Amino acid sequence: MVVGMGKRGKHHAAAFHANGRFEVVGICDIDEARLAAAAESLGNPARSTDAAALAKSLKPDVFCFCTLPSLRTEMIKVGIKSRAKLIAFEKPVALTGNEGMKVKKLLDASGVKAVVSHQHRYGVHYRKVKEIIAGGSLGRVHTVYGTATGWMAHMLSHLVDYMRWYNNNAEAEWVMGQSAGIGKFQDMHPSPDYIGGFIQFANGVRGIVECGAGAPDVPEVDYWWRKCRIGAQGPDGFAEVLTGGGWRAVTRSGSWSGEGCMNYDLDMPPYIQEMADWLDDDSKVHSCNFASAYKGFEIVMALCRSAAAGGQVGLPLTAGKDELKSLQKAMSDRKVLLSMAANAKEYGV
Ligand SMILES: NC(=O)c1ccc[n+]([C@@H]2O[C@H](COP(=O)([O-])OP(=O)(O)OC[C@H]3O[C@@H](n4cnc5c(N)ncnc54)[C@H](O)[C@@H]3O)[C@@H](O)[C@H]2O)c1
Repeated sequence: MVVGMGKRGKHHAAAFHANGRFEVVGICDIDEARLAAAAESLGNPARSTDAAALAKSLKPDVFCFCTLPSLRTEMIKVGIKSRAKLIAFEKPVALTGNEGMKVKKLLDASGVKAVVSHQHRYGVHYRKVKEIIAGGSLGRVHTVYGTATGWMAHMLSHLVDYMRWYNNNAEAEWVMGQSAGIGKFQDMHPSPDYIGGFIQFANGVRGIVECGAGAPDVPEVDYWWRKCRIGAQGPDGFAEVLTGGGWRAVTRSGSWSGEGCMNYDLDMPPYIQEMADWLDDDSKVHSCNFASAYKGFEIVMALCRSAAAGGQVGLPLTAGKDELKSLQKAMSDRKVLLSMAANAKEYGV
């Protein structure tokens, strides 16, 4: 059952429908026109504007919701109550530490499997960079990094997830962050216009991340939302992926590059297939499992806490907080300074 027939809900439903291991039994949206428009291509499943009622009557094996980020706890509760075996939902895990912790508590107590959609990782270019790093050609990795010109609630969760992956999912010990520009706090994906910071990983690797209006351009990529660069450096070289522009690496043996571009049609099928694999076999844990996504979420929230109050923030987080509220309160209303003219339109400056 898939809730939310917007952009991402339709991607999810289409990918479940196309996978022989799944049948889309129900779709839900508060917008009836969206439901009607989506139904036929999904085999005319049951439809409702009420997620709780539909889940109660269908008892789906998989409860998937792709609503906007302000809606998380309520849908997790619906999924758990429906006794689904797996809950799949969209990034970000939540908008605040308060809500993320609530979601974690609910999922942990229920024992239901859960996955969060950080599906860019299935791109050939993302995987090539992982392969180069894991193969040891960079030597001992000392730095992982990620930048995106899109704002925090859209992009930071992706960046941190892939940085953690390139660093073997090492635990983070602390972070320190800074932010600028308050325009995007009014957005449906509320965020500071620009946030950046450092991550200390337990294996000694340094993470460096920048997200938003001040993050550097990736001139090799035309499409604004895909101007993201994520990679790793070691004493023997670097390897990095450009979300909309392939991959490149320089090591002691030479330099290489290759194709690849973020593509929902290519990234969704393996993401969905891993759900079937995990449901069939507990040992085949999904690459985008909730426990891993939550570690990235904690890093994002700790960056906000540091940007709001200054200093370093230790992990794991132990108490809830409304990071967005305290950050907005602490920040000046000085306009954000841009890294490139192309950001002016999106950030309204
Ligand atoms: N993983 C990715 O690559 C990626 C890309 C884009 C967006 N996202 C994330 O996906 C999520 C959804 O984004 P989107 O672009 O699909 O948004 P969208 O606005 O296109 O779709 C959201 C849908 O949810 C519906 N909805 C809202 N409240 C509802 C409720 N109570 N019950 C049922 N339906 C309800 C809305 O009517 C709308 O159709 C966000 O969290 C966003 O950050 C992820």
